[in-house]
Amino acid sequence: MADTQEIVSVLTESRVFPPPAEFSQRAHIRSMQDYQRLWDEAEKDPQKYWGDRAREELFWKEPFQTVLDWKPPHARWFVEGKTNLAYNCLDRHLPKLKDKPAILFEGEPGDRRAITYGELSQQVNRLANGLKSLGVKKGDRVGIYLPMVPEAAVAMLACARLGAVHSVVFGGFSAEALQERMKDAGVKVLLTADGGWRKGAVVPLMKNVEAALTHATGIEKVVVLTRTGDGKLPEGPKFLAWDALVKGQPDTCEPEWVESEHPLFILYTSGSTGKPKGVLHTTAGYAMNASLTTRWVFDLREDDVYWCTADVGWVTGHSYVVYGPLMNGVTTVLYEGAPTQPGPDRFWDIIERYKVSILYTAPTAIRAFMRLGDGPVKQHDLSSLRLLGSVGEPINPEAWMWYRDVIGGGRCPVVDTWWQTETGSIMISPLPGATPTKPGSATFPLPGIHAEILDRDGKRVPRGQGGLLFVTKPWPSMLRSVYGDPERYANTYFSELPGMYFTGDGARTDADGYVWLMGRVDDVVNVAGHRLGTAEVESALVAHAKVAEAAVVGRPDDLKGTALVAFVTLKQGNAPSDALKKELAAHVAKEIGAIARPDEIRFAEGLPKTRSGKIMRRLLRDVAAGNHSTQDTTTLEDLNVLAALRQNDE
Ligand code: PRX
Repeated sequence: MADTQEIVSVLTESRVFPPPAEFSQRAHIRSMQDYQRLWDEAEKDPQKYWGDRAREELFWKEPFQTVLDWKPPHARWFVEGKTNLAYNCLDRHLPKLKDKPAILFEGEPGDRRAITYGELSQQVNRLANGLKSLGVKKGDRVGIYLPMVPEAAVAMLACARLGAVHSVVFGGFSAEALQERMKDAGVKVLLTADGGWRKGAVVPLMKNVEAALTHATGIEKVVVLTRTGDGKLPEGPKFLAWDALVKGQPDTCEPEWVESEHPLFILYTSGSTGKPKGVLHTTAGYAMNASLTTRWVFDLREDDVYWCTADVGWVTGHSYVVYGPLMNGVTTVLYEGAPTQPGPDRFWDIIERYKVSILYTAPTAIRAFMRLGDGPVKQHDLSSLRLLGSVGEPINPEAWMWYRDVIGGGRCPVVDTWWQTETGSIMISPLPGATPTKPGSATFPLPGIHAEILDRDGKRVPRGQGGLLFVTKPWPSMLRSVYGDPERYANTYFSELPGMYFTGDGARTDADGYVWLMGRVDDVVNVAGHRLGTAEVESALVAHAKVAEAAVVGRPDDLKGTALVAFVTLKQGNAPSDALKKELAAHVAKEIGAIARPDEIRFAEGLPKTRSGKIMRRLLRDVAAGNHSTQDTTTLEDLNVLAALRQNDE
């Protein structure tokens, strides 16, 4: 297991922060007794517990009779029911919330739009009708490759309205990554934009789409939103302007009432092999858990201005920018750009101007702000904040304390939320009115979530000892499959211990039963909160003409959590050089996207291997962590000497 250092450091953490009394008094869940009561209820009769929640959270066109049909590893939830997620996010709120802002949008250049529930509903219906006119119907896959603009939410909701399955690709991914995902998902129509704004520059989305389309994708139509340019479309019958598509479309579009288990979205995420997995989520179970956890974990109130800074290209953007908040009828802030554009106080400026009450962001952002010092924060009045959330990677206690003290003014509870693309919604997290928090701990599983720390034989590990994190019972928002590859679903998640979901994370509990996440135990790394498979980066590197072999590992990094170090052996006749390093880094960025660009590339004579030919990753991780390469870059490291010394303990 990778993170023994972390185990030692968390053992010394003894600060405990009980929820402020005024917060608890008004909270949905007010005490650990309340939490325990819910937990016991869920434990005693899960069918009743989840059935009740599903009836409370969602509008059902047709009721369900069966709460759960579980034939491991396949779950079907709320089986006979029919619903529609767009209806749940919009229509059911309209009688009361028509004029309430649903989305407060701010573009990076400073343009602003407030969109009410009524307006959002109109836009969704128009686009849904537009998509229909292109032949999109229930079950068809629609790609979404957009910047963080309201149309991204409109696009997702329009798909949900029609029962079409969306697959959002993060705008930071390259043409190659986009093409691979669109092809795998069998996408028929792609919704994109000419570009988006990021760090003062244009992200060339349309160019990437055009490059992707030079290979087989199966895409029939590309709908292009004008965001950064003059609205000129690329040549050809495939391309269609967004405005032209929605113009004149009726404001109403009857929702498609879909079965609970109808697929809602496919979202690609990295695994331990080269090919990204299309995580498949279905409608009702996902929607129910997203709605419930948003309300409980963020303790939503009607008048909250809620801001989750994630991009819709990640699962956090799906569950906690779009679906969770809208199902709850709150106002959600959408910001397009980079956190420090044009200045280091952009986030704090947004919070002050919109009077944001709940902020949900990633540890890597918090650490980056911490580095900039308290100055930019102090220029703004952040007194509207009442709750802070963290997601995506373990948050180190120092960053947690800074978040609480400097951003939250010492008065806002901090919820460190653990979950994954596959889990669909938050699984382990404090409930801010109930749970005493410890900096760096995600605390306890939510009611009904059986997250357990086990050894490889399925035995519970004693408190204080590290083990593997499993979810031992099904939950409504669990992934249902890997799209097009059910075998991979079963093998990746349910083969470690039969019938139990393996998270790929290590964890331990402390003497009080608090859960501390210890990072991935597989070949997946979390770089600046983004999940990457080292195998994906390796296969991008070996696709380069000069590379013979590559091994990519993570090393701890103060800012990004983990930095990527690539050990590369070159094909005969190629000499290592700084220029080649740059070329290889740029090559990876082109193949996958800038987020996968290695932080360090080290040339090696050969990669250290065990006698059976397995790359000794543990050794490489130690080498990467122990000494940052200060040597002359033209040196080829001879790691095989180290390997020979290690042969016996891998
Ligand atoms: O390793 C865990 C880490 O992020 C992984 C899931 O990544 P992804 O599917 O991209 O979803 C990210 C947003 C939910 C997990 O396996 N992770 C996520 N949240 C936390 C975390 N690690 C520690 N603490 C967290 N709060």
